[in-house]
Amino acid sequence: MSEDVQGQAAEASESSESSEATIAVHWREEGYYPPPPKFIGQANASDPAILDRFAEANFPECFREYADLLEWDEYWHTTLDTSNPPFWKWFVGGKLNASYNCVDRHLARDRNKAALIWVPEPEDAADAVITYQELYRRVNEFAAVLQDLGVQAGDRVTLHMPMVPELPVTMLACARLGAIHSQVFAGFSGGACGHRIADSDSKLLITMDAYYRSGDLLDHKVKADEAVEAARKEGQEVEKVLVWRRFPGQYSAKTPMVEGRDVFVDELLADHKGAVVEPVSMPAEAPLFLMYTSGTTGRPKGCQHSTGGYLSYVTGTSKFYQDIHPEDTYWCMADIGWITGHSYIVYGPLSLGTTSVVYEGTPNYPDAGRPWRIAERLGVNIFHTSPTAIRMLRKVGPDEPAKYDFHFKAMTTVGEPIEPEVYRWYYKFVGKGEAIITDTWWQTETGGFLGTGLPGLYAMKPGSCGPAALGIYLAILDENGDPIPKGSGKAGNIVARNPWPGIFQTIWGQPERFVSTYFAKYNKDKDSTDWHDWPYFAGDGAVQSEDGYFRILGRVDDVINVAGHRLGTKELESSALSVEEVAEAAAVPVVDDVRGRVVEMYIALKPGYSADSGVEAKVKTAIETDIGKIARPKNIWIVPDMPKTRSGKIMRRVIASVSNFADVGDITTLANPEVVDKIRDRVQSAKRAQGEEPRELSETEAHEIKTYGEQE
Ligand code: WTA
Repeated sequence: MSEDVQGQAAEASESSESSEATIAVHWREEGYYPPPPKFIGQANASDPAILDRFAEANFPECFREYADLLEWDEYWHTTLDTSNPPFWKWFVGGKLNASYNCVDRHLARDRNKAALIWVPEPEDAADAVITYQELYRRVNEFAAVLQDLGVQAGDRVTLHMPMVPELPVTMLACARLGAIHSQVFAGFSGGACGHRIADSDSKLLITMDAYYRSGDLLDHKVKADEAVEAARKEGQEVEKVLVWRRFPGQYSAKTPMVEGRDVFVDELLADHKGAVVEPVSMPAEAPLFLMYTSGTTGRPKGCQHSTGGYLSYVTGTSKFYQDIHPEDTYWCMADIGWITGHSYIVYGPLSLGTTSVVYEGTPNYPDAGRPWRIAERLGVNIFHTSPTAIRMLRKVGPDEPAKYDFHFKAMTTVGEPIEPEVYRWYYKFVGKGEAIITDTWWQTETGGFLGTGLPGLYAMKPGSCGPAALGIYLAILDENGDPIPKGSGKAGNIVARNPWPGIFQTIWGQPERFVSTYFAKYNKDKDSTDWHDWPYFAGDGAVQSEDGYFRILGRVDDVINVAGHRLGTKELESSALSVEEVAEAAAVPVVDDVRGRVVEMYIALKPGYSADSGVEAKVKTAIETDIGKIARPKNIWIVPDMPKTRSGKIMRRVIASVSNFADVGDITTLANPEVVDKIRDRVQSAKRAQGEEPRELSETEAHEIKTYGEQE
């Protein structure tokens, strides 16, 4: 597209002002970028007839089209069973194996094509190219190891692994046996991993000794010892810890192996060379994996995803939205430890038989040109990342992409709203004006994309995720459950009115919480078996413009989205409260140029304790131990008292406003309004001393801060 067309397309016009909005928002309406004809010509979805096939009148049978992308051992008899709402069952009667679908079925045609290309972080180290045949061999051999250890269908196995090919191998080996894997992001602490082990009753932990991150070879095995200890405190005994070695045959961690409990995987594999394990034919609704995510309470939620529904959904969405063809070289720069990596590094792309790139390290190591060198060298043509990574790469190396000869046809973003400014850089400099951008709104719970446009059929609009995905009927509801019309400029809660195959089945061990968190809000008849009565409440605020595109405003619950990762306020606060001196703790989001949001923690001390007793350091350590370094607050403010309502509730919106240099709003209802000035003076002068200047918040940012914690 010429500069000229781009300029016109991106020209902004003002949207009409709204009045009496539940949550008032008015933003600059952005222009459209049409997909380039070259893209449309080769797109998997370029005929608008697909929209009719997935129209509501054809629901739920429309999703046969996704399920038919898989190989089934037995075909299903019921596409959607709604008899036990809202525990929907998809493709009932069907049987399949996820590992077979991601590996074995590609052998006939693509045996020696790369399934995974692993790029180690040290730049002078060689890539590992793993063909489908090699993947088949590795998955089978490791499945044989697991089988030997007694792992069976339905068992939970916890993984705490970094970005190495052994991670997808381990996941697929579990799936081959019908065992439920629960991968914990490697950046999480041993304590957080231990809690997830206990929550899921896993007896087996699979980890790696070490991995590279920002130039350092980190000792990761130490976290396994902490995890086992933490699980034990919750009553769960881990019987075996399997340790993959980053360099097989050579142990790279300092922590000793525990006799009788810890075993090196490479040693076990030696006894299973060439082993072949029959894939276990699993019912469609058998769980494939658990993925823990944060919520409003301190206890993380183990989102349970199904085999048939989930795999169908990620395969279909990878095909139509990421436009993956088997001959593409696809790179999703997310971590497999998050849902994005499960759905769109491992299961979706491998099910389609494409080549999926796995990169071990940080995007800016050793410099901001690294991703573009990898893309150039490997001939990557589809690229998937988060707004945080884009912001960071733009900040540290805005001109870097131009130095490398890579050409993407498609790019995806996920995890947070992307600022139109940042979007335009991504489009122009990374996409070089040739690539489409698919902004995808979804969640750990949803398995795959919910709000996004088919790239060959819809023009892109910076800052909007687009319309609803195929077969998803999204709506925005007000607090009473009444629909907010599109184009009204009013925001509300975004819901999916219908079930879809990728939706999680339940929260592991907490079915009541599944119902109360996601469905109770808008369900009017709990005995109804009609899915129309069970809108899925996503917990995000959104507005819909006249053209039907959705713009996501962020969480309406107590979750802070740091660099696209969900951190529960309550998790952070309960960790801080474990420090002896701390009487009260409140975590709030602070708008950040690169990470989207960062956390600041406010602390009030118990009587008799003083701030110089090293409390700050203790709180930091507690959070790193309980959750991980990723959750470390930017600042910890020790305040004389928290601003509170007369009923004693901490007014998080007031401190959030202070931290963001925003207007604190009405504080006349506080029990202690006088404390606000004191806190503001202390915090803001300390911030200025650190070199932080007040920044102007966008409408949506201001809205989030102003209402923070008000939805409890
Ligand atoms: C946010 C990540 C705006 C949202 C797949 C959601 C987004 C939460 C987008 C889920 C997007 C995700 N635009 N916001 N394209 N994608 N979010 O579970 O608040 O880690 O509820 O899943 O991230 O985060 P999660």
